[in-house]
Amino acid sequence: MARRKIIAGNWKMNKTPSETVTFIKELKPLVETKEADVVFCVPAIDIIPALEAAKGSNIMIGAENMHFEESGAFTGEISPQMLTDVGVKYVIIGHSERREYFAETDETVNKKVKKAFEHGITPIVCCGETLTQREQGITIDFVRQQIKIAFLGVTAQQAKTAVIAYEPIWAIGTGKVATTEQAQEVCSAIRACISEIYDQATGEAIRIQYGGSVSASNAKELFAQADIDGGLVGGAALKPDFGKIVNYQ
Ligand code: 13P
Repeated sequence: MARRKIIAGNWKMNKTPSETVTFIKELKPLVETKEADVVFCVPAIDIIPALEAAKGSNIMIGAENMHFEESGAFTGEISPQMLTDVGVKYVIIGHSERREYFAETDETVNKKVKKAFEHGITPIVCCGETLTQREQGITIDFVRQQIKIAFLGVTAQQAKTAVIAYEPIWAIGTGKVATTEQAQEVCSAIRACISEIYDQATGEAIRIQYGGSVSASNAKELFAQADIDGGLVGGAALKPDFGKIVNYQ
């Protein structure tokens, strides 16, 4: 069975609540499609206005992060219940910026992934190597390790519904997109790793995105690769051009 494409924007720390409303109203007609799932992952304070503004459209709203505990003394954090209570369906987990600037580890990523599933939120699990790791030839080993830890204790049934975003760190925000061959090679290795952990059916079902300088000009070629089921888009998701990425065909 063909996997449904999923094209998600990661807004990072951009757009105020009022800018969110204006932008989503502008984007609604541009991201209309029956071919793919469209998700806008927005800053926590923008989630509620984004949900309101997206009503009646195909846009789904996601979060950019979530804590692995249900509630308690975790100043500044957002819990899974807070997200599900307002209707959030997706959450980005373990983005490289969270790992680099907010000390997230493979272990916290694993806790968050499990917690997201417990609450019926689909995690978009991020992985990807640094430039040094690529140059050292350890990309696939490194990404396999990230994936294996992220999915510890996750059932096959849950994993089938997960989304993985392969984002080489050297391609994020740099305009240096991975070649289609590089992106396909790693996405295919990730799928093989999932098949190895679970079984082939799970490997075939899981959706794997590419992220890192995705634009209206390279989306079509990237998303046409056998193991690339869409993209996680940063900078280009903040502009009307995102509509062209969603309707890349
Ligand atoms: P850019 O598309 O700006 O390179 O960012 C990619 C990214 O980090 C998405 O999560």
